[in-house]
Amino acid sequence: MPPTVFILDFGAQYSQLIARRTRELGVYCEIVPFDVRWEALRDREPVAIILSGGPESTLVPGAPDLDRQILESGLPILGICYGMQLLARHLGAELVKLDHAEYGPATLSLDGHQDPLIEALPRESRVWMSHGDSVVKLPPGFAELGSTPRCNVAAMGDRARRIYGVQFHPEVVHTEIGKQLLANFLYRVAGLDASWKMENIVDSAIAQIQQQVGNAKVICALSGGVDSAVAATLVARAIGEQLTCVFVDHGLLRKGEAESVLAAFRDVLHLNVVAIDARRRFLDKLANVEDPERKRIIIGHEFIAVFEEEAAKIPGVEFLVQGTLYPDVIESKTPQSKAGHKIKSHHNVGGLPERMNFKLLEPLRALFKDEVRDLGRVLGLPEHIVQRQPFPGPGLAVRIIGDITDERLEIVRNADAIVRDEIDNAKGLKPHPWQYFAVLTPVRSVGVMGDGRTYANLVAVRAITSEDGMTADWARLPHELLERISTRIVNEVQGVNRVAYDITSKPPATVEWE
Ligand code: XMP
Repeated sequence: MPPTVFILDFGAQYSQLIARRTRELGVYCEIVPFDVRWEALRDREPVAIILSGGPESTLVPGAPDLDRQILESGLPILGICYGMQLLARHLGAELVKLDHAEYGPATLSLDGHQDPLIEALPRESRVWMSHGDSVVKLPPGFAELGSTPRCNVAAMGDRARRIYGVQFHPEVVHTEIGKQLLANFLYRVAGLDASWKMENIVDSAIAQIQQQVGNAKVICALSGGVDSAVAATLVARAIGEQLTCVFVDHGLLRKGEAESVLAAFRDVLHLNVVAIDARRRFLDKLANVEDPERKRIIIGHEFIAVFEEEAAKIPGVEFLVQGTLYPDVIESKTPQSKAGHKIKSHHNVGGLPERMNFKLLEPLRALFKDEVRDLGRVLGLPEHIVQRQPFPGPGLAVRIIGDITDERLEIVRNADAIVRDEIDNAKGLKPHPWQYFAVLTPVRSVGVMGDGRTYANLVAVRAITSEDGMTADWARLPHELLERISTRIVNEVQGVNRVAYDITSKPPATVEWE
C-alpha cells in the first residue's frame, strides 16, 4: 500500500466522509479503530493522522482514548471535534461542558491569524458544528486560529509540532471551506502530494493480483453491477484466460438487461463468460411465495446452487473474485453494525466461499464506490455500466409485492423500462436521482378507459436521491415528467390503470419495497 494517512475512528457518523474527502484530494488513507496501537501503524508508512469526531465527551471517565505514542510520533495530526478535544486534553488544555450544546451552522472567523492550515481561506465562512464541550484554555505551544460567536477556540494549532484541531466538521458539505482546509492540512502542513489517482494505481493492482494468483484458475460471478464488472475486468487484465466469469440469468432482470450485459462483457471487454439461463428454475422455486424474506432466501440459495454446479465444471479453480468495497470492510469491523437489527437479508455471493473452499480475491477492498467507477473508466468499461444505478441482487422479485408470476414480471418490467427511459432522457435534473424504478403492488383499483370500466393493477414509481443508499430522500421530480411517466405506463403497460408516486424517505421507509 502507498504512504497512508490514518484516520482514527472515534465513532463519528462522518468518519467515512473524512476518508472520501481525503482520497478525493489524491491522498491515500485508511480508517482504523481509535484504540489502534502505534506499533500497528509504525511499519505501514504513516504520513499523517486524523482523529475523527465521536459521540462521547472527553470529560466523562472512560471516554475513548488514543495511544499517546501516536501524539508523540512527530507526524502531522489533525483532530476534528472530539478528536480536537482529545488531543487538547492530552496536551494540557482546559475544557468545559457547555450549558447548551452547539449543533448546526455557525460563522467561522479567521481574523488576523496566519498559519498554513488556514492559508488562503476567506476571513468569514459558514461551518458545521456539533459539540457539547469546548476548549477554554489552549494547550501550551498552541495558537488560536479561528472562532465562532459561541466557540472561542474553533480552530487551534501548534505549527512547530504540526498538531492541529478544529471544532467544526470540515468533511461535511455544509462547511464551505471544509475541503480547502483539509487540502491545506494534507498539502501545506503535511507536505503530501495528490498522487493517489486511479491511473497510477492500476499497474500495481494488476501486479498484486498476478502475484497472489500465480497460475491458479479464478472464477467470478457477474451480476451486471458495476462492482463485479470492474473487479472482473481488472482481474482479467492481470491473468487473462485464467479467469472464467459466470453470469446467471435468474429471470428477475430488467428489460433487455441480460442481452446488454452479456454483449458488454463479451464483445467490449472480451471477458471469458459462461451464461446460464436459469430463469425457469428460479421462477418455479418462487411460485406462490409472498413473504419478502423467503423470496430473498430462496433466491440466495438457488444462486449458490447454480454457481456451484458451474464451478464444478471448471477443473482447478482456486480463487473466487468478490467485489467487496471499502465501506463493507469498515462496517464488518465496527461493533455497532454487528449489533444492528437485520432489516433485509441482502443477497450477494457472500455465502459462496465457505461452502466451496475458495480463496478470496477482493481487488476492490480498499476502494469507495466513486473510486470503483473511476477505475472502471480507466479500464475502458462502457459508461452505461460504470454509471449503472444500483440494482438489488434478488432483482425484480423485491419489486413485485406478493406472488411472482410471468405475467406480473412482465408488468413490472415494462413499467420499469418506461420509468428508466423517461428519467434517463430528462434533461437537467438536479441532482439526478440515485435510483428510480417501478414497483408492482398487490392492489387493484377501478378505472375507466375508453367507455369501459377497468379493474386493474396499481404501479408505484419510486425515485430517490442518496449518497450511498443508507439514507435517502424521495426525488422532487418535475410534475410534467411524472405526468409523462404515468400516462405512458397506463397506456403502454397492459393490466395497469393507476400510478402512484412514493413520497417516503429512508428512514422510515427503505429504498426497495421488500
Ligand atoms: P434498502 O431497500 O435496504 O436498499 O433501503 C438500500 C440499497 O441496497 C439495494 N439493495 C440490495 N442490493 N442485494 C443488493 O445487492 C440486495 O438484496 C439488496 N436489497 C436492496 C437497494 O436497491 C438500494 O440501493
